[in-house]
Amino acid sequence: MSDIRRVHGDERLGTAFTLYPYAFDATPSPGTDAELRALLPYHRDNHTLIAERDGRTVATASAFPAQQNLRGNVLPMAGIGWVATHPDARRQGHGSRLMHRLHAELLDSNHRLATLYPFHPAFYERFGYVGLPLNRTATFPPAALAPLLAVELPGQVTQQGIADGFATYRAFQHHLLTNRHGATYTADYRAARALDPADRWLATAVVDGTVVGVLPYRIDGYGGTLRADELLYTTALGRALLLRFLAAHTHQVSTVVITVPPDEYPEAWATGLTVRTEAETAFPTSPPLMARLLSMEALRGARCGPGQVEIEVVDDRLLAGRYRLDGTGGTLHLDTAAGTAKTATLTAAGLAGLAYGVLDPGEVVTRGLGEIPDDAAEELRTLLPRLTPHVFGKG
Ligand SMILES: CC(C)(COP(=O)(O)OP(=O)(O)OC[C@H]1O[C@@H](n2cnc3c(N)ncnc32)[C@H](O)[C@@H]1OP(=O)(O)O)[C@@H](O)C(=O)NCCC(=O)NCCS
Repeated sequence: MSDIRRVHGDERLGTAFTLYPYAFDATPSPGTDAELRALLPYHRDNHTLIAERDGRTVATASAFPAQQNLRGNVLPMAGIGWVATHPDARRQGHGSRLMHRLHAELLDSNHRLATLYPFHPAFYERFGYVGLPLNRTATFPPAALAPLLAVELPGQVTQQGIADGFATYRAFQHHLLTNRHGATYTADYRAARALDPADRWLATAVVDGTVVGVLPYRIDGYGGTLRADELLYTTALGRALLLRFLAAHTHQVSTVVITVPPDEYPEAWATGLTVRTEAETAFPTSPPLMARLLSMEALRGARCGPGQVEIEVVDDRLLAGRYRLDGTGGTLHLDTAAGTAKTATLTAAGLAGLAYGVLDPGEVVTRGLGEIPDDAAEELRTLLPRLTPHVFGKG
């Protein structure tokens, strides 16, 4: 059996960080110590746990603090990552014990939600996580957007280095956090990772002095590819301004690759646009984000439709219990169950699927994440209607 404890600051170097290169990088590799030390500031307030046996770190798991919008509630969210076990200690339960301990400690420090990129989704589904839809990439020649160059649009796009535009970029991300389901906002010490390489441009669309869209991007060479990490906007005009800005790169780059949310339809951006829109899920290289509720409190006061239902959450250390959800009035009221309403039985992953809006009650049942009688399914469908979470970035 191993002991689990939290590590802070430089202590990470001789403990948790000893496991990272082998688990996540190309190894063996010279220069690893200096590279790891340079990463320390980006782990500053991470909640890092290690499992030790005979004074040696055999496994680790960590989480960074963030915020996420769940149906209008802006909540403390923990981004879990850096889960690694030494190869000679795998399949002994270290990873599982660390996950349970991390969940409990994150809940104690007021986190309501947790997300992670899974190496092994079935493992994390047992820990209450559900997969969210993957963002798409749209690939097209900039000339395909040329018709936009002839359109009169009120507003301007400015272009600057990401370091100069960083405050604007962060302010816009924060604005989206308060307005868009699924939007996330990471702590400053994590976001600062974009500043060190400073290898991005930022295009900012402004109308009447208000920022209505931002686009971080990079150009890999003359005649090459303009790659945009995320298309963020609040209005159709904001998006049109940014797309027109991309069109202005005709004859400079041959291809634009832009990451868009799952409910964006690039083929509708312009008449006759030649575009390939795709998403490839692969493990562990291209996983969709998974998410869970750490507390039922995440749903209290959330925007919802009408409906009343009781749920019993099963097989989960944090959420197990019976609750009454009432959507009368448009925000969710949460109570202990009184045994008076239609009742559904849910795993934590099934509940996460409904709360994040990515699963219909019928899908919860067919995926084996709950038992929901038809009458309770009808209530849940109106109470927690389907939604597409907009999640960008790797935290
Ligand atoms: C992923 C990783 C962290 C798992 O750590 P671990 O300590 O082996 O995890 P656990 O022992 O708790 O569970 C792993 C599996 O062993 C099984 N297991 C746990 N205890 C066991 C035991 N005593 N005997 C047999 N199997 C056991 C678990 O049920 C689980 O099975 P599954 O693969 O069918 O789901 C480890 O393999 C690793 O470091 N991989 C490389 C890095 C990585 O992918 N990290 C994840 C990125 S977030």
